[in-house]
Formats: sequence, C-alpha cells, structure tokens
Amino acid sequence: KRRIGVLTSGGDAPGMNGAVRAVVRMAIHSDCEAYAVFEGYEGLVNGGNMIRQVHWEDVRGWLSRGGTLIGSARCMAFRERAGRLKAAKNMVLRGIDALVVCGGDGSLTGADVFRAEWPGLLEELIKLGELTAQQVEPYKQLNIVGLVGSIDNDMSGTDATIGCYSSLTRICDAIDDVFDTAFSHQRGFVVEVMGRHCGWLALMSAISTGADWLFIPEMPPKDGWEDEMCDVITKNRKERGKRRTIVIVAEGAQDRQLNKISSSTIKDILTDRLGLDTRTTVLGHTQRGGAACAYDRTLSTLQGVEAVRAVLEMTADSPSPVITIRENKILRTPLMDAVKETQEVTQMIKEKDFAGAMTRRDAEFKE
Ligand code: F6P
Repeated sequence: KRRIGVLTSGGDAPGMNGAVRAVVRMAIHSDCEAYAVFEGYEGLVNGGNMIRQVHWEDVRGWLSRGGTLIGSARCMAFRERAGRLKAAKNMVLRGIDALVVCGGDGSLTGADVFRAEWPGLLEELIKLGELTAQQVEPYKQLNIVGLVGSIDNDMSGTDATIGCYSSLTRICDAIDDVFDTAFSHQRGFVVEVMGRHCGWLALMSAISTGADWLFIPEMPPKDGWEDEMCDVITKNRKERGKRRTIVIVAEGAQDRQLNKISSSTIKDILTDRLGLDTRTTVLGHTQRGGAACAYDRTLSTLQGVEAVRAVLEMTADSPSPVITIRENKILRTPLMDAVKETQEVTQMIKEKDFAGAMTRRDAEFKE
C-alpha cells in the first residue's frame, strides 16, 4: 500500500487538526496508509517514533481541537541539506514517498526544496552506504502537496488560509469585550493584534468591530497621521457621541520610514494630546489557540481531501501544488507561484513600495 505522510509546521493554526484528520481518513479511504510526522520537520529529520502510522480512529474528535495535536516546530536542521538527507533516509526506510505539509510560506518552500533535491539525496544516501539502490528503487519520486495553515491569511493565491477566520473570530470577541469596559469608563483602548507582514487580521477586525482607527504594515499612515487620528477620534467622541475609542494596531505596523508604530506610542498620543484615559491590550497568543470555527473546520476538511487526491495524481513533472480556495472553490495552485507572489509583496513593503503592495493585496481581493 502507498504510504502518505502528513505534518504540520510553523506557527500552529486552528484547523490544522481538521486538516490532519482529513488527510489521514482520505488516505485510508484511498487504500493508502497514513503516517503522522510529529513536531513538524523535526520528526522527519529525527525519525524513530516521531513518524507513526495513524488509523481512522486515531483522529476521532480532532475537528474541534485547537493547536496541532501532532506538534509543530520551527526546525533549523531541515533548513540544511544534511538535515534533509536524514529526512529522506527516514522516509525511504518507512516507505513514505508522499507528503502533505500544512504550514506557512516558509514551511511550504522547505517542502518544495526537499522535493527538488530528492533524487540527489537518494543518490547520496546510496553513495554513503546508508541505503542500497534496491531500497530506494520504489521511491524515486517524491510527491509533495501544501496546505496553508496560518492565522495571518498571508498567502497569495488563496482567499483564506486555514486558521484565519478562527483567529479573526477570537479577536472580534476580545474587542467586543474590550468595548464593554471602554464604554463603561469612556476610555480609549489600543488593541494590538498579530500580523508581522500582513494586516489582514487587523483590517478585518477593524471592519468587523467598527474601530476608530487602524494601523497595518502594508499601508503606513501619511506623515502627520497623529493629527489626523486625533481629529477623527475627537469628532467621533464629541460630534457623534461615542463613549469608547478603539484603535487597532497590527504587530508589524510601521510608518513610511519603516519605524515601528507600537501600541504604547499610540496610547501616549491619545493620553497626551486628547487627555483620553487610555489602556493597551496586546491579544498575543490567545489569537492562535482555541477551537477552530466552523469555516476552518470545513475548509481544512475539504482541503485535506483535495490534498490526498493531488498527491495521488501528481506526476514527476507536475509542480508541487498548494491547495487553495478561490471564490468558494477548492483548487490546486503551483506552490512556488503562491510563495513567490507572497514574498514579492513582503519585499515591496520592505522597499517602501506601499502602493505596489496594496495594489497586489487589492488585486487579490478582486480576483
Ligand atoms: O504566523 C503566525 C504568527 O502568529 C504571526 O502572526 C506572529 O507574528 C508569529 O506567528 C508569532 O510567532 P511565535 O509564536 O513563534 O512567536
């Protein structure tokens, strides 16, 4: 029977367990064996009992569980060829030549590099006497399929990443709670949300909660933003009678010179200029934990099923796909196209081409 491995890598995201469950069950349904690789790429590199066969019942109840039950890691060893050599050996020894990886753009790039190197890695293992030609013979082709698990919704080519709507829901709930106390005391609150390079969580939570002002990395405010922000807030409070003020700031927010705009800077401005009793709330990792929302449960299930189909249909020449969703359709997109596009936007932001970055993001919204 064909053996399909599944692993989760990078920052955990709600829905990763749903993805693993779907991959395991679809693999079994397709008459294959499913193997879970524990602790992300670390499990591949270390082998042993970090790669274990998983059966249908083993993933029962996983849909509603937060985090990733097979663990994740930001693995340094796999970034080196020597680590990938060990990983290849472990896979051949277990007869695994197909892998579904659920992670962010870095993790998926690693998977694609591994696939490109695969024939060379096998040759080297034979030369080193670690494996025989006979042992590697059935596993000459490595099939890799990506699933995007990330709360940030920071991958190009897909409308949503697994986890982003769960995280957005948690953020909105937290901001609603903050609203109540802000209303009671007529206070200002600066709420910091995750998103180093991508302001999706901040933008969507600001829209969903009717925040007064927002900072995201892709669109730094114009010089003089301090005055503008204060004017808007004053208007909202004095003319519109708002009792509470909420400013949402993405973790990676910055000004046009790429200086960080921190929640404490904003708090000081509101306190000093407007005399507003202001507090900051950094939501931190509460945004990443917890059960997946209904959308992420269905998304991860449908995409996990599609990932197994893709793994079984791949040929040696087909580029590694990543499973995406666009306009409500589950699709396969060349993995490296999506990664390249994602990295280009990040690079544009670093080079202060904010208009370019926003156009790309906007183009994605319109697509
Ligand atoms: O990519 C997900 C994410 O939660 C980002 O929003 C955040 O910047 C980063 O991971 C935090 O990573 P860590 O948990 O390793 O500190």
